[in-house]
This record gives sequence, structure tokens and C-alpha cells, in this order.
Amino acid sequence: MLSFRRALVAAAFFITVLFFTTRSSTPAAPPSAVAYPKADSDTESKQGSDTTGTLVDAEHAGGHRNRPSQPQGQQQTIQDASKMTLYDRLAYQFPYDVETKFPAYIWQTWRWTPAHAEFQFREQEATWTEQHPGFIHEVITDQVAGHLIRLLYASLPEVVEAYAALPLAVLKADFFRYLILLARGGIYSDIDTYAIRSALDWIPEAVPRSAVGLVIGIEADPDRPDWKDWYSRRVQFCQWTIQAKPGHPVLRDVVARITEETLRRKQAGSLRSIVDKNVIEFTGPALWTDVIFEYFNDPRYFDMGQSAGPIDWRNFTGMENRRRVGDVVVLPITSFSPGVQQMGAKDTDDPMAFVKHDFEGTWKPESERHIGD
Ligand SMILES: *[C@@H]1O[C@H](CO)[C@@H](O)[C@H](O)[C@H]1NC(C)=O
Repeated sequence: MLSFRRALVAAAFFITVLFFTTRSSTPAAPPSAVAYPKADSDTESKQGSDTTGTLVDAEHAGGHRNRPSQPQGQQQTIQDASKMTLYDRLAYQFPYDVETKFPAYIWQTWRWTPAHAEFQFREQEATWTEQHPGFIHEVITDQVAGHLIRLLYASLPEVVEAYAALPLAVLKADFFRYLILLARGGIYSDIDTYAIRSALDWIPEAVPRSAVGLVIGIEADPDRPDWKDWYSRRVQFCQWTIQAKPGHPVLRDVVARITEETLRRKQAGSLRSIVDKNVIEFTGPALWTDVIFEYFNDPRYFDMGQSAGPIDWRNFTGMENRRRVGDVVVLPITSFSPGVQQMGAKDTDDPMAFVKHDFEGTWKPESERHIGD
């Protein structure tokens, strides 16, 4: 009898411990040893750290839905994959759930790993580790990236084919960031980027993480009449740093478009003729910007019925606070482009300065970077 009672007490104790250890959200907890990393919303509850501005909603009056609206009678229980579009098959393979946590991954790519003698971004790379204790931080070489894409996209062979077919390293590097975030989520950042503040501070405390699935920054907001001589879009979103939950519809769309366009060009034999200046439209920030604006006005995700008009660059120009559209948080130019001394960007010591991009390790056309240098 006694041993039964003891067993009962032990069981109760065990359950209590389990209850508290699985529920507690103490930031001081050591990095968990579990295979799946702790997501940031566990550790983001530190009090009073957010003194850095507010968030403005820029929303169509009808609001946002996380699942696309489906016409009646189109629900299918058994999906015939052969009849589905690539976009739909990507959604099937990498479903999006806005309520999951932001995975605690940091993905970077470079020719060499930090262990290699030629690796020249130690200082930058270290800032990501320092700012994000408990995160899994991977610097992936080109060769490993190829293996990883084959593994993650094994059931979508045209994606693997498109990745392999891209003729320039810069195209592959662009494509890889969308692919890894779609499949796994977390943060992607170019290797030549310093983390100034933890990603836990990128969204204000008051905003529930369960309502946000994508965090992006502004690369360029050239408020000048000749902006077209320098930039491809009036407001351009940057893709050197992105935070996303897996399966986000914007990533799904950008992956589907790059895949289809690559295979179309492969078929037409025009893939090799892509030169540096085309990259921005093909895989780079121009395409990224277009896809995001289309998402903001996509009637599958936003009720456009009562909308005052499309959301376009006008809704983001000159902004100093974060802005939220549906499940996307757009950071002001200072956040990912501090210290560029133009377009209203403040310096790297501004509380809204989150990452600093050096433009060394990645290719970007000169004109996309330094007006007036
Ligand atoms: C976007 O900006 C336009 C002005 O250019 C404004 O009329 C519209 O209401 C804004 N939309 C939202 C959702 O804030």
C-alpha cells in the first residue's frame, strides 16, 4: 500500500514538475536541449524592453484572413496533386499557421563556413549568436544548400530542378533564402550583416506574435523626382534580412514565381543570358517587393470589399514607426538600413536600428545601394 502511495506521490511530483517546466517562460532558462529549438515567444516576455516606437495598422477596412477564402463546394478531401498548381502544392507541403511561434533559427549562407580560414565575416556572424542565445544559427555553404533544397523539396521536383538550373550564384542565394524560410521559417540574414538588436525586439511587446507571420524592412524610399534613375521601385523592401513563419503565403508565391519563370527560361534556352542587372527583377528585391504588394491587395487574404483603395508605396513612404498589414509587420527604413544617411534613415544608435547591412558579401547593383556615393 505504502509503495503504491509513494508511487502516486512520485507521479504527482513528476506531473507538477512537467507542468511547470513546460509552461514556464522564464527568459533565464538555459537553451533547451530538446531537438526542436525554443521559439522566441517563450523568451520574449521580458518586461519593459520595448521602448522603441509603436506600430500603426495599415489595413483594408474589411480586414485580413489567414486562410484564403474558398468558394463554396471547392473543399476537397482528397487532393489530386497532379491537378494542383505549384502554389497550391507548396501550400499543401508547407502549411501556414500564423499561430505557431517564430522558429528560433538563423539562416545564413556563404562560400565558406565560419570554421574556414578564408571566412571573413566573423565579426558580423558573431553578433547574431550574441543577440540570440538559444537560437540555432547555421551558416550554410553553397554545396550544403544544394543538398538541403533537394531534401526539403523532394516532393516538389520542379523546385529542385529550378534551383539547380539557376546559372548565377547570386540567383541561387536569393532563391535559397525564400526556400529555407518557406520550409523551415526563422530569420534569414545576409552574411555581411550585423545584428544590432535581438529579433525579439523587432516587434513591439504589445503585438501578439500569434498574429504576425512575416517581418520585413525597407531598403529604399527615394523621395526624389529622379528616383527611377536609381531604384527599380518607389518603395523597395529589402530581402537581406527577413523573419518568417514557415509556409507564409508571400514566400509561397515568390517560390512559385521563381520556379515557374526559371523553368520557362530553361525551356526557352534563355536562362544563361541573365546578367547581373536582371537579377533584381528575377529573384531580387524588385520581385520581392512586387510579391509583397500583391499580397497586401490579394482578395484571397484581404477583404477588399470595403477598402478605401489599394495599399501601395504611398502607405509606407516616410514612415518612422512599424506598420502592420494583416499578418505582415513592415519596419521603417532605420531598422534594417540604419546609417545610410539618406531617405530618412537614422543612425545605427537609434533604438529602431536592428541590423546593419554592409553590402560586401552579396551582389547588388551599385545603383541600388549608394545614391550620391
Ligand atoms: C493607403 O494610402 C492611401 C493614400 O495614398 C490612403 O487613402 C489609404 O487609406 C491607405 N490605406 C490604408 C489601409 O491605410
